[in-house]
Amino acid sequence: MSFITINNIWQEYGDHVVLERLNLQVKEGEFCSMVGASGCGKSTFLRLLLGQEAPSRGSITLDGKPLTAEPDSSRGVVFQRYSVFPHLTVLDNVTIGIELPQSPLFGRLFGAKKRAAREQAAQMLEKVGLSHALQKYPAQLSGGMQQRLAIAQAFIMQPRVLLLDEPFGALDPGIRKDMHALLLQLWGETRMTVFMVTHDLSEGFNLGTRLLVFDKVRIDPHAPQAYGARITYDIPLNETRLSALSGTRPDNVYALRS
Ligand SMILES: Nc1ncnc2c1ncn2[C@@H]1O[C@H](COP(=O)(O)OP(=O)(O)O)[C@@H](O)[C@H]1O
Ligand SMILES: [Mg+2]
Repeated sequence: MSFITINNIWQEYGDHVVLERLNLQVKEGEFCSMVGASGCGKSTFLRLLLGQEAPSRGSITLDGKPLTAEPDSSRGVVFQRYSVFPHLTVLDNVTIGIELPQSPLFGRLFGAKKRAAREQAAQMLEKVGLSHALQKYPAQLSGGMQQRLAIAQAFIMQPRVLLLDEPFGALDPGIRKDMHALLLQLWGETRMTVFMVTHDLSEGFNLGTRLLVFDKVRIDPHAPQAYGARITYDIPLNETRLSALSGTRPDNVYALRS
């Protein structure tokens, strides 16, 4: 059964059509990688999934119910720009992700529960390679470190749906590989449904179970904003991914965009 159903959505800002006639059904636990030209509406699509914006037309349902207008703990998000709390230490930035859902009224835990939350947060920070920076403030971290902090923050909440908007773009190649492994591990451990936008096609092919390509099918050179993007390719990746893991990925999977 479909977990998330996108039913003929359009997104328009004034007379600028960004997305048109988007339809998609996603099962729980799927990992959708998304690629497409810059400005074609991928981040817009994630904002719609997050419930931050409502589509101009069409509907999105989650578990058969319309998406709630307010983002809640069922959906976590990592944007391409850092979204950490500047006034909290690295450790507190991640601990609060455990505290908020458990203590919505105060947003804080105390005593043994607090210690357990801090311990869990410290373990996640170790996984993203930030153990040495627990007491630092975001402003004291490099861009890549802030991004890893944002990743730890989203992962610790174990959301039902994880939305990732070019989360690894700013990271060094070695660290990016570590983050890929961590993401796949967490995804394997939970039944998390993942939507990940990437500008790196090989990352999309390697990480997803499904690759969605956003593109415009109609273009009017005199009115570039008249038509929006749709999902033009929807490629199942299970076999590709398995062969990628065993190191025998065929080269022709890269032929799509050339
Ligand atoms: N709130 C908004 N108001 C007006 N235009 C917007 C808004 N959000 C996005 N857009 C426009 O929608 C288009 C798609 O943007 P975006 O979703 O960020 O693309 P992508 O993430 O694929 O690069 C861009 O032209 C952008 O300027
Ligand atoms: Mg974007």
